[in-house]
Amino acid sequence: MNSYKIIVTAPSGVEGLLRKEMNRLGYTEGLTVGKGGVTFSGGPVDLVRCNTLIRQGERVLVEVGSFPAVTFEELFQGTKALPWEEWLDAEAAFPVAGKSLKSQLFSVSDCQAIIKKAIVQRLQEKYKKVTWFAETGPVYQVEFRITQDQVTIMLDTSGDGLHKRGWRKLSAQAPLKETTAAVMLTLSNWRPHQLLIDPFCGSGTILIEGALKALGAAPGLNRSFACEKWPQVPAALWRQVREEARENAALWQQEKSAELAEMRLEGYDIDANAISMARYHAKLAGVDKYIHFQQRDIKDFRSSKKYGAVITNPVYGQRMGDDQEAAALYRTMGQVLAPLDTWSFYVLTSHPGFEEAFGRKATKNTKLYNGRLECRLYQYHGPRPPRRDRAAEEEGQAEEKQAGGDS
Ligand SMILES: C[S@@+](CC[C@H](N)C(=O)[O-])C[C@H]1O[C@@H](n2cnc3c(N)ncnc32)[C@H](O)[C@@H]1O
Repeated sequence: MNSYKIIVTAPSGVEGLLRKEMNRLGYTEGLTVGKGGVTFSGGPVDLVRCNTLIRQGERVLVEVGSFPAVTFEELFQGTKALPWEEWLDAEAAFPVAGKSLKSQLFSVSDCQAIIKKAIVQRLQEKYKKVTWFAETGPVYQVEFRITQDQVTIMLDTSGDGLHKRGWRKLSAQAPLKETTAAVMLTLSNWRPHQLLIDPFCGSGTILIEGALKALGAAPGLNRSFACEKWPQVPAALWRQVREEARENAALWQQEKSAELAEMRLEGYDIDANAISMARYHAKLAGVDKYIHFQQRDIKDFRSSKKYGAVITNPVYGQRMGDDQEAAALYRTMGQVLAPLDTWSFYVLTSHPGFEEAFGRKATKNTKLYNGRLECRLYQYHGPRPPRRDRAAEEEGQAEEKQAGGDS
């Protein structure tokens, strides 16, 4: 069982960017891009590489099997026929969760119970001496999807979602997912020699993710994954992939040393607690020397720099503050940023009145989800700053075209 179907999930609209990212990691053949993710055939080392190295994906799943079912009996027999003993030993824990869409089997809780029972029966037949599965061993989260009467059963190899990079120790109000920040950075074409500012930085997500990306740091290097405890994924592979990731980051930093020497990121927020948290998180992530954080109201923001990029996720009027307050904030933001006519701006919000309040129509906007909330990334591309690395910038623009955004 050394090759199986691996699914790297991504939020709707991000699949093309994820494919491009996987191409850069060497996955160029046999990728299928579908709604919600990218699928390919791989083995244990690919589970380790995808979990450790992918920045914009959500989770890495491995398929156990797929079959059609319109009755509970078909669901039970189809599940029981799968080779569960190849994954689960007698101690394994196997909670079941899932979703059903446009299918006759629509009761998720019933499907959950039936799948669980079918796995237990299969294991009882294989491990004859075991009468009761205490489930005290490694966790194999079973994920099912039933779409148009086709059942797919997978195991979640990640555990915590890939957005967890290991540095977020304190919980903030309305934080952005690190994976969404990574997508915003990709779509912005930001390059490290360009000043990057987040005037509503909250816990610091965008800037910390930006600095880590610029340093070529593997996003999953400082955390653990569910499948690290699975015997199917040997510990030596984790050591090998982590070692390679560290070496690659060191080489990258050497190659980009001139650009990185100029890297400057600035984060502002009206809330002093948010600023202390952002500073703390940047330190934990090892990027504090690149980021200057300061408490500041957007109305007091000024810059004398000729070029720069603002990438931000201000209040939307839904999750914090109300609608009109958010619009007033966008007006202030529009006025304060108006003199910076050679800068680029990238603003993520779900507020439908953003462009009107900001006072400018975006060059482009791209649909992105912040959790379940549908948002738009309003993109205002300024003139190009003097180039250090034309190839790198053009590569970024090619990535943007993959995003499938609409304007
Ligand atoms: C949606 S949160 C940003 C979350 C951030 N991206 C993160 O991941 O933690 C919006 C932030 O805007 C800040 N804010 C609200 N009004 C502000 C103002 N007038 N000037 C500067 N920051 C403000 C809030 O304190 C909050 O931290």
